[in-house]
Amino acid sequence: MTKKIVHRSLFIVLLSLSLSSVFAQKSSVQNIDSRVETLLAKMTLDEKIGQLNQVPGDISTGTDVKTDDLLTQIRTGRIGSVLSHTNFKNKITMQRVAVSETRLGIPLVFGFDVIHGYKTIFPIPLAQAASWDMGLIERIERIAAEEASADGQNWTFSPMVDVARDPRWGRVMEGAGEDPFLNSRVAEARIRGFQGNDLAANNTVAACTKHFAGYGFAEAGRDYNTVDISDQRLREIVLPPFKAAADAGSATFMNAFNVLNGVPASMNKNLITNILRGEWAWKGMVVSDWNSFGETLVHGAAENDTDAAAKCLSAGSDMDMAGGTFERGLKKALETGRVSQAQIDEAVRRVLRFKYSLGLFDDPFRYLDQKRHDETLEKPEYRETAREAAAKSMVLLKNDGGLLPLTEGSRFKKIAIIGPYADSKGNKDYMSFWTLGLGIRDYDSTKVVRPAQALKPALEALGFEVTVTEICLDALCTEKDYSVAINAAREADLVIACVGERGIDCGESRSVANLELPREQERIVSILGRLSKPTVMVLFNSRPLVFEWASQNIPAILVAWQPGFETGNALADVLTGKQNPSGKLPVTFPRTLGQVPIYYNHLNTGRPQQQYGQLWTSGYLDAPTTPAYPFGFGLSYTSFSYSDLKLTKSQYKMGETVEATLTLTNTGSRVGEEVVQCYTRDLAADIARPVKELKAFQKIKLNPGESRVVTFRLSEKDLSYWNHELKWKADPGKFQVFVGGNSNEVKEAVFELVR
Ligand code: NOJ
Repeated sequence: MTKKIVHRSLFIVLLSLSLSSVFAQKSSVQNIDSRVETLLAKMTLDEKIGQLNQVPGDISTGTDVKTDDLLTQIRTGRIGSVLSHTNFKNKITMQRVAVSETRLGIPLVFGFDVIHGYKTIFPIPLAQAASWDMGLIERIERIAAEEASADGQNWTFSPMVDVARDPRWGRVMEGAGEDPFLNSRVAEARIRGFQGNDLAANNTVAACTKHFAGYGFAEAGRDYNTVDISDQRLREIVLPPFKAAADAGSATFMNAFNVLNGVPASMNKNLITNILRGEWAWKGMVVSDWNSFGETLVHGAAENDTDAAAKCLSAGSDMDMAGGTFERGLKKALETGRVSQAQIDEAVRRVLRFKYSLGLFDDPFRYLDQKRHDETLEKPEYRETAREAAAKSMVLLKNDGGLLPLTEGSRFKKIAIIGPYADSKGNKDYMSFWTLGLGIRDYDSTKVVRPAQALKPALEALGFEVTVTEICLDALCTEKDYSVAINAAREADLVIACVGERGIDCGESRSVANLELPREQERIVSILGRLSKPTVMVLFNSRPLVFEWASQNIPAILVAWQPGFETGNALADVLTGKQNPSGKLPVTFPRTLGQVPIYYNHLNTGRPQQQYGQLWTSGYLDAPTTPAYPFGFGLSYTSFSYSDLKLTKSQYKMGETVEATLTLTNTGSRVGEEVVQCYTRDLAADIARPVKELKAFQKIKLNPGESRVVTFRLSEKDLSYWNHELKWKADPGKFQVFVGGNSNEVKEAVFELVR
C-alpha cells in the first residue's frame, strides 16, 4: 500500500469510529427514551409516585434492614431511591428485593453525601479549593467515586457550589468560597472526577449540584435562614457555578432549603423551570433537599402535603428526599386537578432516565460486586493523593524572618508541639461533620495521622529535640491545663501551636456567632506571644476565623484547614519544606466579626474610605475596612515577582479577544508554585460594577531564578454583566486588567472596549 492509501484508509477508519460513537451516543439516548416510555406505560400511579420517593436508609444502625419496614416499602414499589445507607450487604438485599420482588423490577438508586472522600478522607472542600489545582481536585473526586461506587453508591450529593461570603455559616467549608469564577471551575473539576466519561461505568457516580439556589446567602449566616438578594446578585454571583455545573453535565441538581426572594427554593418555578430547564436547557433530574418540600409548610408557603406536593412538582422538582410529601400528597393533588398526569409522568421519566443512564437497568448489581468492593476501598495509594491534597491546600499567611521551613542545621534545637490539636485522638478532629456527623460513619480515629504523630519523627530526623504537650484534659476541651504546655514552651527554642476548631463544628447546622478561636485558645496564643518564643501557629479551621492579635504578634501562621486522614504527614511535609506551600485563600479572612460580610468583589461606595480618608466615608470608627488577609492570598517559601504586564492593544473591538501577558519570575531560592490571578474592572458601565472580578488563573511551577511569560485571554463574555435588560452584555468604555498573586497586590493595565 502506498503512503497515501494508508493515510486515506486510516482516515476512513477514524471517521467511521468517531461517527459510530456519535451514533452510539445518539442511539443510546433514543434507546433510553424508548425504554423509558415502554416502562412508563406499564406503571400504575402508585408505582410512579414510588419512583419519586427517596427515603433514608437505616442511618443510625446501618445494619439490619430486615427489622425495619424499608424492605416492605421497597417490595410494594413505594421507594425509588435510598440515601445515606452504609451497609454494603444490605444494599445488595434491597436491590434484590427491588428488581426481583416488585411487579416491574425497577432498580433502586443509592445516594450518599460524598463530600471530601468516601472512605479515604481528603481535606474539606474549602481547603481543596485553596489549592487552586483543578487537576488535583478532579483526582480526589475520581478516588472518591472509585470508593463510593465500589461500596454500592451510585450518586453523590456533591458538588456544593454555593458561593459564600459569611464565615459564620457552617457550610462555608463545603464550597469553594466567595468567588463565582473559582466556584465554577471547582464544580467542573469535581463533576469530571465523579462522573468520568461514562455514567454507566461501574467506577463512576452521578453528581448532584446543590443547593439550587442562594443557600450561601442565608441572613446572619444562620443555616436554613431566609435569602433575599437582587436579581443582579443572583445572576452574577450565585448562578454562574450552577450554570457551569449544568454545562459540565451534572446528572442531577438539588433544591435548597432556603426561601429565595420570598419563594422557597423547592417550589421556585423561576429557578427550576425557567432558568435551569428553560434558559440553560438542562435535561437532568432535580431532587429536593431533606424534607424541603415538607418545610414549605413551615415557611407558610403551603397549606398541607397536597398543596406542597402540587407546588413543588409544578415548579419542576422531581424527587422528594426524606420528606414523604409526594407520597402523602401527590395522588390527591392529581385527583383534585392541582397537577396533571403529564406532569407526574415527566418527573418519573427523569428519574427513570437517570437510572438508565447509570446502567442500573442493564445490570442492577454492577455497583454491588463484593470482589471489587473488597479490592477498592481505602487502597494505600489513595493516601498519597490525600497527603498531596492536604499539603497543597495549606495556606501560609505569615512567615516573618523566614522562620519556616524547619530544616537541618537550624539555629533552633528544641521544639515544643503544643495545643489542643497537637495530638488529638478525638475522632472529631481534622475532619468534618460530613465524615462523622449524624452517626453516618464512625471513623476509627487511628486512621487519621495526627500532627505530632508525624511531625515529631520528621523533626527528630532533622536533628531537633521534640516534646509534645496537650492542653485539653478531656475530649471536649472543657478542662484544660495551660501550665504544662506553657512550661514546655518555656523550655523550647521554638513552639508549634496547633489551635483552631473541631472538625465536628463545621458543616450543616454548624453556624457560629463568634469567629475568635474557640475554647479560650486566644489565651494560649497570647501567653505564647508574651513568652517571646518564636512560634508557628497552625490553624485547624473550616471557615475564616479571626485572630488579629496573633497576626500582629506571632511570626508564622499556617492555615491547615481540616486536612483529613493525612493531616500529620502533610503538615510535616509543609513545615519541613518538603512541600513548598502554594495554597491561596478562596475566601477573605476578616479582622473582626463586625466586618462580615467582607469580600473582595464588592461594589464601590460613593465614598470609599481608602480613597477619601477616615471621615464622612464608608467605614467604621473602631476597625479598618480592609481584611486581615484578602481573597487569593498565600505565601510561599520562595518569592515571585510580576513584571511587564502588557496588553496586545489599547483598544479592542467588541468580540475581539483581549490578551494580557506578563512575566512571572521565581526570585527566591526554592522551587515553588504560584497561582497567578487575573481580575478585571469595568470602569464605566451602565450600572455600578465590582472593584475587581476574577476572570482567570493559572498555577505555575518555577525553579529558582526561572521566568515564564504568562498569557491570559479574555472574551467579550468575560467582560459582560447581567444588565438591566436582563441579558449578558458588555458596555463600551474603559476597563482595568489586574494580574497578581492575590486580589490586593496586583499589576494593572487599561484598555478601551469600542464598538
Ligand atoms: C441535607 C443537606 O443540606 C444536603 O446537602 C445533603 O445532601 C442532604 N441533607 C442529604 O444528606
